[in-house]
Parts: sequence; C-alpha cells; structure tokens
Amino acid sequence: MKNLVSISDLSKDEIVNILDRAERFEACPVSRLMEGKVAASIFFEPSTRTRLSFETAVNRLGGRIIGFSEAANTSVSKGESLKDTIAMVSGYADIIIMRHPLEGSVRYASEVSRVPVVNAGDGSNQHPTQTLLDLYSIRKTQGRLDKLSIAMIGDLKYGRTVHSLLMAMSHFEPSFKFIAPEEMSLPEEYRKFLREHAIPFVEARDMNGNIDDVDIIYMTRVQKERFSEPMEYEKLKNTYTLRSAMLENTKPNVRVLHPLPRVGEIAADVDDNPKAYYFQQARNGVFARMAVICHLLGIKC
Ligand code: CP
Repeated sequence: MKNLVSISDLSKDEIVNILDRAERFEACPVSRLMEGKVAASIFFEPSTRTRLSFETAVNRLGGRIIGFSEAANTSVSKGESLKDTIAMVSGYADIIIMRHPLEGSVRYASEVSRVPVVNAGDGSNQHPTQTLLDLYSIRKTQGRLDKLSIAMIGDLKYGRTVHSLLMAMSHFEPSFKFIAPEEMSLPEEYRKFLREHAIPFVEARDMNGNIDDVDIIYMTRVQKERFSEPMEYEKLKNTYTLRSAMLENTKPNVRVLHPLPRVGEIAADVDDNPKAYYFQQARNGVFARMAVICHLLGIKC
C-alpha cells in the first residue's frame, strides 16, 4: 500500500511519472477512473486550495468524496483519538486526504490506516502535493526542471511548501537563493540536506539585487498560525512585498510562484504582470492531485 506523507516517499521517476499524468489530465480533465471509489477529505486545519482542488480532482475522476473541513464538528471534539478517527475513516473510504497542524501526525495516520493516506500539510513539516503542483508549474513555464535557479523568499522556517519543494528539486540540479530575516531563515536540517546533496545555495536578507538572475521567484506568506508570540509575527509580517516594478530587470521568462494564500507579500499590481503565475499554479493543483490519487490507488492512466 502506497502513502504520500513526505515528498521523499517518491523517487525521481515517480515524480516525473506523476507530472506526465497531470499533463494528460490537463489535456483531458474528465474520466471515470475512480468510479465506485470513495475518498475521505479530513482537514483539522483551514484550507481553501488544497481541500477544494482535491475534491475537484475526485469529482473529475468520477469518484465520491466524504469528510470534514473542521474537527469541531466531529467526535474529535468529544475526545476521540486520532488513531480511532483514522481507524473509522479507513473503514469507509478507499483513500484518505489529511491536513493536520501537528508535524508527524499524517505519518502516524498512515501507520494505522488500512487505506492510502495523502499528506495535505502537517504543521510546518511537509506539503508534498503542493510540491507536485509547484513542480508541474515550474516545468510548464520553464520547459524543464533541470538546472534552474530558484529564489525562495519569506517564511522559510515554518513554510512547509519550501521544505518539500527544495527536497524534490534536489533531483534536478538546482541552485537556490534563500531570502529571509534571521528569525525566519531555513532550518538547519534543510541546509544540511542541501550540503549532503551538493546543492549550491546562498542566503540573503534583501530581495533587491537577488531576484534579477533567477528563473523562479517563490514567494511565501509569514505563517501567523505557527508563531507562539503574536508580537514576533507583527514584527515580521511585512518584511517583504514584491511589487511589479521590482520585476523590470528580471529574466524575461521568470515566473512568480506562491502557494497562496498571500497576505501582503505580493502587491496587487503584480497580478497583471505576465511574470505572475500564482493563480494558474493553484489551478494546476487539480491536475497534479488527480495524478497523485491515481498513483496511490494503482489506477493505470
Ligand atoms: N497552498 C495551500 O495549501 O493553500 P490552502 O491552505 O488554501 O489549502
């Protein structure tokens, strides 16, 4: 039984295979491949894109979906354990799509589930399906994944999409610029990962002068919900704002990505700049997630 808890659960070949399938789903987005199957979408933390694009993916594959978008309406509020919740849900559904605020909770769920479990985000740890749609978006806009230069900007400490993406890109000889204040800089475990994989990276505090030569500008939100001190969040929340004028000297084919939601880190005037790609990126999530579901359920397509 396959699960997708960390992006490292997938080999390079599996990643490429999922992206190729996603491309076929974009060309032909409706099928009956999941007919007779049920997916459970269980979200213990808020979501717009991940939950709705997974639900769209299941619908487009001809499957059915059950689930909840907040634990307050479930027996978790009466004290039911995660173990018992997963035991129940894995008796009802063929696949579980789960988001939870605690790092490691989805790995634990995968160990007690009788059906495949997909990590839809666990705390500040991993968000592997976001990574697949990010890779899909990068490949689609750049025509390749190999040898790209990527600037990651903002909350690199708590941003789980950053952690998953840098690990996935390690298969494709990237170079990175990490732009963050000291308080939100990349955790040491990921720096160690990059050094072990001989991936070049530099760290900087300022966006100016550091985005003009890259292929991808990956903006991130300061993750308010992960801060234990509200004042610390207030101090850091407006550290970076990308404006359209700042893209003037960037590469002609650079694209601005953001996992979204954004708060103040991308000004509205960027939306009309042809280098902005974050809304198309979010749409690509449907195709990537259709491909992930088929991969985990062993559906040939
Ligand atoms: N990118 C992302 O995970 O968005 P949601 O939190 O809206 O699902």
